[in-house]
Amino acid sequence: MSISNAIIDRGKIGRTPALTARADEVYNDFMSDARNQLLHAYWKQMGERGNALMAKAGVKIEHTHEGISNARDVIIEDTYLSTFLRVKRSAQEIYKQRIVESYAQREPEFLRRLDDAEKRGPGTLTYDKNFVYPDYSKVHIHIQPGGYVGHPLAGMYYDYGTSIFYGGENSDDALHKRLAEQTPGPKDGKINRILEIGCGIGQMAVEMKRVHKDAEVIATDISAPMIRYGHWRATEQNMAVHFAQMPSETLDFPDGHFDLVFEHILFHEIPIPVLDKTLKEVFRVLRPGGTFVVWDFASAEPGKPGYSGLVGLMDAADNGEPYAHEFVTCNVEQRLENAGFSIRSRIQPGVMMGSRVCDKP
Ligand SMILES: C[S@@+](CC[C@H](N)C(=O)[O-])C[C@H]1O[C@@H](n2cnc3c(N)ncnc32)[C@H](O)[C@@H]1O
Repeated sequence: MSISNAIIDRGKIGRTPALTARADEVYNDFMSDARNQLLHAYWKQMGERGNALMAKAGVKIEHTHEGISNARDVIIEDTYLSTFLRVKRSAQEIYKQRIVESYAQREPEFLRRLDDAEKRGPGTLTYDKNFVYPDYSKVHIHIQPGGYVGHPLAGMYYDYGTSIFYGGENSDDALHKRLAEQTPGPKDGKINRILEIGCGIGQMAVEMKRVHKDAEVIATDISAPMIRYGHWRATEQNMAVHFAQMPSETLDFPDGHFDLVFEHILFHEIPIPVLDKTLKEVFRVLRPGGTFVVWDFASAEPGKPGYSGLVGLMDAADNGEPYAHEFVTCNVEQRLENAGFSIRSRIQPGVMMGSRVCDKP
């Protein structure tokens, strides 16, 4: 092999392993800039244009699968909007594929590193090699090949992919850090144990540990590939977060175990029956006076273009998120109350996402 074809370790970009070749990096830097220039810059105008076109055509913006289909009939007639959405979807497909192909060239080495990290601290990792995933969790969410559970490097794909998705605004997990700092605790101020459900690669759990240095932080997720990489990533930062594979609907903890439980962008990615079971479980594992913080999409207001209107509706549809529409129309506030929570604060209408803060009486 000539040296020019050698596969070398190109180090990290912040907390994320660099792509295998400089050419891959340049390609995806271009994709990231293109997304910022073509998509983020026109998001508001296209949203307004789409809402106006829908109103003119007399078609309601409805967060249902039929609603998406009706919206597509309107969009296809408009050159600007149909091009905008086509570019958005294609960009997503293109950069994901490049990430997968690039990391694949160093796959044996990455798998070895994941194995080596399993034995390292300061945190811990538990998962079941024979875990049987429920069908709902196997979708290729975010157009990520294999989704969260279908490939051992899924966590790395997610890390690099979301760094592009966030348009450069999440370097060194800046968004997760901000949310961790803004996550309120129980009214009595006592926080000894914290649980994240659907922790992904542990970005927010690690930041919570930085905020609550003396608390025990446990990060759970249904996907072994996500938490294996999350554990590796946390050990590289010398952060003592304990990762465990666990579906949010069956939490393997005693009653009243936690002072604070939170989720960030899990709920819009699970079916409603799983959400309801999860709420019961979270209520059970919280102590009386404990707090549950939901960081997720706002509920759509009936008859109004909630969840940022047409573009928000199409974003979930084009991003391979099949449960998001059910979530925004499921009245999660009512479901939280049905599970026993008392709602301290909720997202104001018209905002795309934010927190709902709930207490266990
Ligand atoms: C959008 S990611 C969010 C990750 C993380 N909370 C963050 O802030 O980046 C959603 C995560 O939920 C996980 N997930 C999906 N269904 C789940 C379930 N039933 N129980 C626990 N985790 C689940 C996925 O594996 C994925 O890691």
